[in-house]
Amino acid sequence: MIPSSSSPSPSPSPSSSTSSSLSLSLSSHRAYIPLSVVTALICTCALMVLLFTEKVTSLSSFSIFRLISCANRDALPKYRIGSGEYRPEIDDDRFEFDPEECNDTARGKWVFNASLRPLYSARSCAYLEKQVTCKRNGRPDSDYLHWEWQADDCYLPKFKPEVALKKLRGKRLMFVGDSIQRGQWMSFVCMVQSIIPKDQKFLSRSPSRSHLIFRAKEYNTTIEFYWAPFLVESNTDQHIISDPNKRILRIDSISKHAKIWKGVDLLVFNSYIWWMSGPLINSLWGSFANGEEGYEGLDRMTAYRLALKTWANWIDSAIDPNRTRLFFTTLSPTHIKSEDWGNKNGIKCYNETKPAMKVTRSWVDRMPDVVSSIVKKMRVPVTFINITQLSEYRVDGHVSVYGESRGKVLTEEQRADPLRYADCIHWCLPGVPDTWNRILYAYL
Ligand SMILES: *[C@@H]1O[C@H](CO)[C@@H](O)[C@H](O)[C@H]1NC(C)=O
Ligand SMILES: *[C@@H]1O[C@H](CO)[C@@H](O)[C@H](O)[C@H]1NC(C)=O
Ligand SMILES: *[C@@H]1O[C@H](CO)[C@@H](O)[C@H](O)[C@H]1NC(C)=O
Ligand SMILES: *[C@@H]1O[C@H](CO)[C@@H](O)[C@H](O)[C@H]1NC(C)=O
Ligand SMILES: *[C@@H]1O[C@H](CO)[C@@H](O)[C@H](O)[C@H]1NC(C)=O
Ligand SMILES: *[C@@H]1O[C@H](CO)[C@@H](O)[C@H](O)[C@H]1NC(C)=O
Repeated sequence: MIPSSSSPSPSPSPSSSTSSSLSLSLSSHRAYIPLSVVTALICTCALMVLLFTEKVTSLSSFSIFRLISCANRDALPKYRIGSGEYRPEIDDDRFEFDPEECNDTARGKWVFNASLRPLYSARSCAYLEKQVTCKRNGRPDSDYLHWEWQADDCYLPKFKPEVALKKLRGKRLMFVGDSIQRGQWMSFVCMVQSIIPKDQKFLSRSPSRSHLIFRAKEYNTTIEFYWAPFLVESNTDQHIISDPNKRILRIDSISKHAKIWKGVDLLVFNSYIWWMSGPLINSLWGSFANGEEGYEGLDRMTAYRLALKTWANWIDSAIDPNRTRLFFTTLSPTHIKSEDWGNKNGIKCYNETKPAMKVTRSWVDRMPDVVSSIVKKMRVPVTFINITQLSEYRVDGHVSVYGESRGKVLTEEQRADPLRYADCIHWCLPGVPDTWNRILYAYL
């Protein structure tokens, strides 16, 4: 049996999972045809079509018009980070999101816009945990709240709470994974809850606190989080074991968690950071009922591949793709080594107030490739919410010293010791995960 406990805190302690070797695979920017040329041509054509047609909506039958909007070359903002051409914000339902055509929301740039407002704050959303409420915990700067992600090849629609709730009417949406995924869940709940009256929304927790359920009564919708940091079973699922060497996984067993996922309409998974605690993963052959004897240390990548295969097999055998849609949030980058983004004197992500122009990883690991190669072979389609590259720029978006330690907001003394206490894994909310949900929203 899995040891159960009365009060687990489902959250990896930053220090236990921050190996200095944290790293990720980043493909360099692909060669890029100057968009300005294409854009100029298209703008001309669009104008001509507009002149000769009264029904503007007919434009939407030309897919290309949905992809690229005319760039206003005179309005280049001063601050932007990333690749590609600047486009002014458009907020027009004609520019529909078509996942077939807009399949690379991962390429784009962050544009600074001081008048941009997050959809919620720690004051207006009661569902935020203090691990992520940076502003309330004392973070002095605010620029990190005003960056907007613009995809290069398409228009990413603005998150509209009413539309999101209508699309989720009568449905269950569940985020499954680790504490970073819990951040994405909180962000989603906070973005929609503002339009729901007080007596129409409820948060409930399972006794073990591993299953959190936000209910929007009028819409008959639930937005849920299920804690399964490795996706497969482990002895640290309930009671967090801080010593990675004592953690034991059953990489061939998932049903204990997966039975909770049955019947959910939209499932959003992630699993990454917990695999990064060391080179070996203890893997038990057999069940915990027979004790914790007989495990072997498997190379991390092998264990990850086997665990994801277990996950994929369950999906392919238990999920009806006509009923359930599947998403996988890609790796959320950590920012531990400030030389990676050219800040030689920095301490992790401490004191960062602007996105980095460029982040270079000292070594590259193949974990994201493992996920893609497995997903490609699955019967049930899985959509990636590709957050890796866009989050990579956001060295300013982490909790840093405005988080918590052992359930308490950091004290002044702790804050003065960022080397030890800065959390450069989790993200402030409101913040970067709101953009991840903007991508998820586009696919709804
Ligand atoms: C900045 O954000 C505001 C509010 O969302 C929007 O109205 C405006 O068009 C944006 N400005 C630019 C330059 O994108
Ligand atoms: C995205 O679409 C383009 C053109 O339709 C295609 O060439 C490309 O392979 C697609 N990329 C992915 C990741 O599906
Ligand atoms: C995510 O986006 C990056 C950058 O565009 C790309 O290199 C990577 O292959 C994508 N990952 C997946 C799983 O689609
Ligand atoms: C609410 O949604 C569930 C599925 O999540 C469905 O089984 C049930 O019939 C719905 N109830 C109403 C009153 O629409
Ligand atoms: C899904 O729906 C399609 C078309 O309605 C049908 O042909 C297919 O058999 C269904 N698949 C499953 C697994 O039920
Ligand atoms: C962090 O920023 C503050 C305020 O800008 C500055 O006083 C302090 O020296 C900085 N600390 C480090 C370690 O860069």
